[in-house]
Amino acid sequence: MPVEGKNLIAGQWMPAAGGAAFESTNPAQTDEVIGRFPRSGAGDAGRAVAAAKEAFPGWRALSRVRRGELFDEFVQLVKAEREKLAELVSRECGKPINEGLADVVEGIHMAQYVVGTTRMPHGQVLASEFAQKDSFVVRKPKGVMAVITPWNFPFAIPLWLMGPSLVEGNTVVFKPSEDTPAVGGRLAELMREAGFPPGVVNLLHGTGEEAGAPLVSHPDVEAVLFTGSFEVGQAIRRVCAASDHRLAVCEMGGKNALIVLKDARLDMAVKAGILSAFKTAGQRCVSAGRILIEEPIYEAYCERFVEMARRVRVGDPLDAATFMGPLINEAAVQKVSGYNRLAREEGGEVLYDGSALKGADYRRGHFMGPFVYRMEHGARSRVLREEVFGPHVALVPVRDVDHAIEVYNDTPYGLACSVVTEDYRKARRVQAECEFGLGYVNLPTIGAEVHLPFGGVKRSGTGMPSAAALADAVTHKVAWTVNHAEAIELAQGLSAEVK
Ligand code: UN1
Repeated sequence: MPVEGKNLIAGQWMPAAGGAAFESTNPAQTDEVIGRFPRSGAGDAGRAVAAAKEAFPGWRALSRVRRGELFDEFVQLVKAEREKLAELVSRECGKPINEGLADVVEGIHMAQYVVGTTRMPHGQVLASEFAQKDSFVVRKPKGVMAVITPWNFPFAIPLWLMGPSLVEGNTVVFKPSEDTPAVGGRLAELMREAGFPPGVVNLLHGTGEEAGAPLVSHPDVEAVLFTGSFEVGQAIRRVCAASDHRLAVCEMGGKNALIVLKDARLDMAVKAGILSAFKTAGQRCVSAGRILIEEPIYEAYCERFVEMARRVRVGDPLDAATFMGPLINEAAVQKVSGYNRLAREEGGEVLYDGSALKGADYRRGHFMGPFVYRMEHGARSRVLREEVFGPHVALVPVRDVDHAIEVYNDTPYGLACSVVTEDYRKARRVQAECEFGLGYVNLPTIGAEVHLPFGGVKRSGTGMPSAAALADAVTHKVAWTVNHAEAIELAQGLSAEVK
């Protein structure tokens, strides 16, 4: 039965004011409609922001521990239906069922993390120049957060952003991706059932242009927390920069790479490459579109990699044996096909092109298999610098660790980086000299855990990582100094005399 989705504003479920709706379909079987959801506009966005603004003072005044307890309730509810949620994630975004479950589990972990922080030290106590003064750093919530999230982690990423925001005392307007509104809707519903008061979490369905844009430019939004493409993130940053105070916290794309040095354990390096390139059909912001391999082992690596890529099983996301599901939509298929063509045009030597899949089951969805090519790193290649977001990977020979670092950094992005090596000195060079936000040794570029900062540098992020680190972006650190003496004394030797 298709879901009849609604917006959640001030604790009330309601359609878009204009009455328009859009459909969400299963990318593996596009004739299956998951649900119909409100196509919200500026008026709906305004109402959602007003509800969040109104709920803010009461929510902020609640004890931090009590706010955390609502997340604890939420975790119990999610755990009780995690298999069902995992299936909904897989059906709506096409990730294989194990990945759907991992998405839900990652969301649980984020909620558990924020509950834990509520009984941990919060802020700081500092000494003053004067024994009779105590100084504190107090963290205060900012107000209304606009949370705009992508389809590829429809459960976890909203919680990376809403978890820290809410527990710190902010209120939220949450706009899930229009590709995964059913997951976003169920998430908001579970938060409501857990007892989050009306207006604290508001749900606004719709497209970026119609619902997202008025949300981002609303004067009562204090910060926009966005995860998605560089282009959209950059547009959000511009809008926020033109306002007098609004902050944009953006996690954007990547052109990540796995570096394989000549002393690497080959089995581990090949597996790390396959996982980095093809998990989630390459549709993670941390997926690796490049594998940089030191020349002495280049040929051996390519051979083993292609052999494993041929075995990647593409198919029904609900079948536990499937490794790769479909791409999210037709636009994604067109985009990835364009990059596959560009790889050939720019001189890539195709080692395996499994992109076109034959069979009736594949024709019902947006399926596409792996595409693997070898290519020298050249000054002008676009395909080695631009984000593809699909099962498309270049195997690039590099002369040594210096060359690997140089090539790694030669993109406008800086998100995830991994090096496979037994040489701790070289691994340390990669850590120090590659520009990234998430680094790994002897691991794929995917698989971050929520208690670490998740973010990137250059075009990949705004320098304010999300997940555990988000608390810094959603609070103001304010100084608070209390004098216990009966006279006023000033710092820096400043005279307090009034003549
Ligand atoms: C994303 O890449 O879009 O690190 C999010 C990972 C996951 C999150 C990925 N925990 O692979």
